[in-house]
Amino acid sequence: MTKILVTGGAGYIGSHTLLKLLMADYDVVTIDNLSNSSYEVINRIKFLAKRNFDFIEGDICDKSVLKKIFIKYKIDTVIHFAGLKSSSESNEIPLKYYKNNVVGSLNLFNEMAKNGVNKIVFSSSATVYGEPEIRKCKENSVLSPISVYGKSKLLIENILQDIKNAHPEWRIFNLRYFNPIGAHPSGVIGEDPRNIPNILFPFLTQVAIGKREQLLVFGDTYDTSDGTGKRDYIHVEDLAFGHIAALTNIDKAQDTNINVNLGTGRSYSVIEIIRAFEQCSGKKIPFEIVGKRSGDISELYADISLAKKILGWEAKFNICDMCKDAWRWQQMNPEGFKNVVKYISE
Ligand code: UD1
Repeated sequence: MTKILVTGGAGYIGSHTLLKLLMADYDVVTIDNLSNSSYEVINRIKFLAKRNFDFIEGDICDKSVLKKIFIKYKIDTVIHFAGLKSSSESNEIPLKYYKNNVVGSLNLFNEMAKNGVNKIVFSSSATVYGEPEIRKCKENSVLSPISVYGKSKLLIENILQDIKNAHPEWRIFNLRYFNPIGAHPSGVIGEDPRNIPNILFPFLTQVAIGKREQLLVFGDTYDTSDGTGKRDYIHVEDLAFGHIAALTNIDKAQDTNINVNLGTGRSYSVIEIIRAFEQCSGKKIPFEIVGKRSGDISELYADISLAKKILGWEAKFNICDMCKDAWRWQQMNPEGFKNVVKYISE
C-alpha cells in the first residue's frame, strides 16, 4: 500500500485528514513537533481509526530527522500541513514564521527530491488572496497576502510552482483552504487553541461554554448585508475529504492548475454565524459590536468550480453541521486535549 508522509498530523486539519487516510486504508507515517498540539491527539486518532501508525515527534526544520524518515520509509506522496498559523503573531515575529514555514518546507522538498519523491499536497490558505477587489476568488485572482503568515504560504506555493516548471514530473496540489471550522462528529478530535483564540469560531464556542464572557464582533460598518465581515466557513471534515480527493487525482495534476480552492462557495457574516450557532446548539451567545480589527477584510469566498472539475470534490456539510460538531467537541472537551482520556483501542 502507498506510504503517505503527513507532516503536522497532530494539528487541527492534519488530525482530521490523518484519520480519513487511516479509515481509507492508506499506509501513513506522520511527523509533528507538537509545538501547537499534543500526543493526546495521536492517541485519539488511533482510537477512532482502530489502527496503529508510526508517529515521529520531530521538526521539519531538523534535516537529520527528515533524512531518517526518507531512509526508513518508502514514501510515495507527502501531505504537508506542518507550519505556524497565526496571522497576528506572524507579523510580530516574522523570522520565526519564515524559518518554520519556508525553511521547513525547503528542507522537506529537498529531501523529497533527493529520494525521488515528487508528489505533494500542500496546505495553503485563502489568505494568499489578501483583500481582493472581487470577493469571490478564483485560483487566478490577484494574490496579495497581508500578513507574514499569508506571505509565507504564497512563497511556498511559488517554490512548488518553480519546482514543477523545472521538473514537470512533479505532481503538486496547493490546496487553498477558506475558513475551517467544526470538528469530527464523534467529538473526540477538534480544534484546540493553546492561547486565547484570535479567530472567530473557537472564541465563540468558548463563550458558549462559559469560559469567556462575550464575543466581540469586530466592526459592523463593512460593505456587507449586515455590516459585519463575511467568510466562507468550511467543515474541517469536508477539508479532510478534499485531501483524499487530491490524493486520488494527484497523478493528473497539470502545470496550469496546481492551486485549488477548498471552500463551500458561499459566505456568512459574523452575525449570521452567531444566529446559526444559537439555533443549532440552543446556546445564547452574548456579543458586543466593537471597532474593526486591523488587517481584516470585508468579505471573501471561494469560486469552487476548479475543485469540482479536477478533484471531483465539493463540500457536503452545512453551517448547522459545522456548529453542532464544534459544539459537541467543545462540550466533551472543555479543556481541549489537556484532559487525557483513557480511550482503549481494540
Ligand atoms: C483568519 C486569519 C487567516 C486564516 C483564516 C483561516 C487573521 C487576520 N487572518 O482569517 O490568516 O487563514 O483565519 O483560519 O488572523 N471576528 C470577530 N470576533 C472575533 C474573531 C473574529 O468578529 O473574536 C470576525 C472577523 O472580523 C472576521 C470573521 O470574524 O470578519 C472571521 O475572522 P477569523 O476567524 O479571524 O478569520 P479570518 O479573518 O478570515
